[in-house]
Amino acid sequence: MIQDYFQLKNKVCVVTGAASGIGLAAANLLAEVGGKMVLLDINEENGQKAAKDLREKGYQAEFIKCDVTNAKDCQHVQHHIEKEYGAVDVLFNNAGIIKRKSVVDLDEHDWDLVVDVSLKGVYLLSKYLIPLMAASGGGSIINTGSGWGLKGGDQAAAYCAAKAGVVNLTKAMAIDHGPQNIRVNCICPGDTDTPLLRDEAKQLNVKEDAFLASSAIDRPLSRIGTPKDIANGVLFLASNLASWVTGTELIVDGGGLA
Ligand code: NAI
Repeated sequence: MIQDYFQLKNKVCVVTGAASGIGLAAANLLAEVGGKMVLLDINEENGQKAAKDLREKGYQAEFIKCDVTNAKDCQHVQHHIEKEYGAVDVLFNNAGIIKRKSVVDLDEHDWDLVVDVSLKGVYLLSKYLIPLMAASGGGSIINTGSGWGLKGGDQAAAYCAAKAGVVNLTKAMAIDHGPQNIRVNCICPGDTDTPLLRDEAKQLNVKEDAFLASSAIDRPLSRIGTPKDIANGVLFLASNLASWVTGTELIVDGGGLA
């Protein structure tokens, strides 16, 4: 049955940045198709609420506070998952932040923050969870890149650098871990209506509505994305529908890059 291809029944699915936006939408969708959800974020209040909302809908979900830039937090997640579940089947490395500044205007602390959360976080959590995934027979890792990992953008130097890093790190991980039956792919969203995007308008000191509208106009499909649009792509990459897909990027952007 075609439905069986995107079922994740009893698969252990870990999502970072799960308290908001794209991560939250992906956590909901993966839970709907049967995933046992482990939600990670630094925002404890929203993360706990997201897990509780899922449980109230009858899904299995828990929240663990985890800063993906912190090795101890990532190791704690590894130990917890090993003890409670004994496996990881899907890892969605999605946490990311953006600072809308050029190289000249960006201070060093913000450079480090953007690169640490958006790029180093992918490395760190994968480092601790890949051995578990390999030991349980393989799985699927999805890293969140961006259209700006594939082309440059204005006033976003550290973000463009980090996201381009994620795109190529994805390929390196796919090569290294394919023999362990681990697929590694990247999802590259275009502008998607989340708190991160709305915060960009604030950072650039422009009106939110005008900022979102100008992004929509630039796209063949004439709108910006919803978190669910991106989550659908994540489900595809996580599922057996993508059984021979690894080391690549899926652009979900209403045609913006075209
Ligand atoms: P969001 O701001 O709604 O959600 C990001 C989540 O990551 C928040 O809950 C935040 O608390 C969490 N987070 C931040 N630092 C963290 C850390 N150190 N450890 C763990 N969690 C942390 O943002 P959105 O838009 O959902 O972004 C998700 C991903 O999608 C990011 O990687 C972003 O760069 C990427 N993206 C977003 C686009 C958009 O237009 N919204 C476009 C292209 C890529």
